[in-house]
Amino acid sequence: MSPPSTVLVTGGAGFIGSHACVELLDHGYEVIVVDDYSNSTPQVLTRVERIAGRFVGAVYELDIRDRRALSAVFDRHAVDAVVHFAAYKAVGTSTRMPVEYYDANVGGTTALLRAMDEHGVHQLVFSSSCAVYGDAGHERLDETTPPRPTNPYAASKWLCEQILADVCHRCPEYTVLSLRYFNPAGAHPSGLLGEDPPDPPENLMPYVAQVADGRRERLHVFGNDYPTPDGTAIRDYLHVMDTVDAHRVALDHLADGPGMHVYNLGAGRGSSVLDVVTAFSEVSDRPVPYEFAPRRPGDVATLVADASAVAHDWGWRPTLDLADICRDAWRFQQLNPNGYAGSARRPNAKE
Ligand code: NAD
Ligand code: WQD
Repeated sequence: MSPPSTVLVTGGAGFIGSHACVELLDHGYEVIVVDDYSNSTPQVLTRVERIAGRFVGAVYELDIRDRRALSAVFDRHAVDAVVHFAAYKAVGTSTRMPVEYYDANVGGTTALLRAMDEHGVHQLVFSSSCAVYGDAGHERLDETTPPRPTNPYAASKWLCEQILADVCHRCPEYTVLSLRYFNPAGAHPSGLLGEDPPDPPENLMPYVAQVADGRRERLHVFGNDYPTPDGTAIRDYLHVMDTVDAHRVALDHLADGPGMHVYNLGAGRGSSVLDVVTAFSEVSDRPVPYEFAPRRPGDVATLVADASAVAHDWGWRPTLDLADICRDAWRFQQLNPNGYAGSARRPNAKE
């Protein structure tokens, strides 16, 4: 089977999806986007087209759970493969709105599968998460680590993976590549695309960017008593450009053969919270004031990918490091101090 040429990107206006659209347009794919803008804004796609110098083939504002609307998209376009980013992703919110999260993430995925099935589309790249591992109890995680999700968001991703594995098991025409991202961060080097976080940001990198920019007084470092060299928690930050590069490579490997294949996507390199503070301060040439605060409930000391499987099977490795991530996040912050201000509607990300 030849690699796909027309790719449907769900959640294509989101943080990772928008960068993926640029990557796919740059590599000659016909890109069709569906997004309900529940955590994004249509103007992102104008920026995508500006960077790529090409138009997205078509954009549909719809909720992927709207089966009739989604089916009409497949009717209109000869889709070869789907890259499925659309989901709700705020861990904290998921603990307070579990039904919303299961409906959006699991229901969204089954609705997508139904539309694919009805239209004879059997190739899917799925956004999974290191969150599925939960508190795995050890530090460098490979894909054989048994998932132990600890919140509804993580459980929804693990449920999706189990559904996809079962579909592949029962329907041999399917190929599904599930990519478990560790901590995607950074921005497009143009400064036009990046992470537009909720207010206040939940994740470290956008929070640090806003502190460096003076929009927030200081960072609260959640925990300085972890069993790590500097006492702060260690994560595996992966540049969003590396993240989407891996998706483009994944599309080539959909042709390798049927079945479900799961890969960690990480740099395989751990950075502590204070490493991030130092790196950001260096590239921005700004102080990043911080104070220590209690551990955040649910956090673990260290989560670093063993990313050797994707390197072995696809020859894929990240090319950018923590300084690159901070440099590009800083450029986006400076050029977009209020994110994609104004037009974003984000009921899925905020209380
Ligand atoms: P994002 O919120 O920026 O992007 C998701 C996009 O999907 C948004 O544009 C949103 O409007 C859209 N969307 C959500 N529900 C939808 C629905 N029902 N129908 C249509 N569109 C819908 O998130 P992101 O950071 O780009 O993450 C993309 C994917 O990667 C998600 O599945 C997420 O769970 C996964 N992931 C993200 C991270 C991370 O740190 N960002 C880490 C691991 C996995
Ligand atoms: C990183 C480190 C915090 C904010 C999340 C999701 C996970 C996955 C990736 C989607 C931690 C510390 C943070 C702050 C801090 N997403 N921190 N002060 O929690 O590793 O992973 O994104 O699938 O599911 O949970 O990322 O950026 O929130 O935190 O000290 O203000 O920074 O405690 O150690 P996390 P993060």
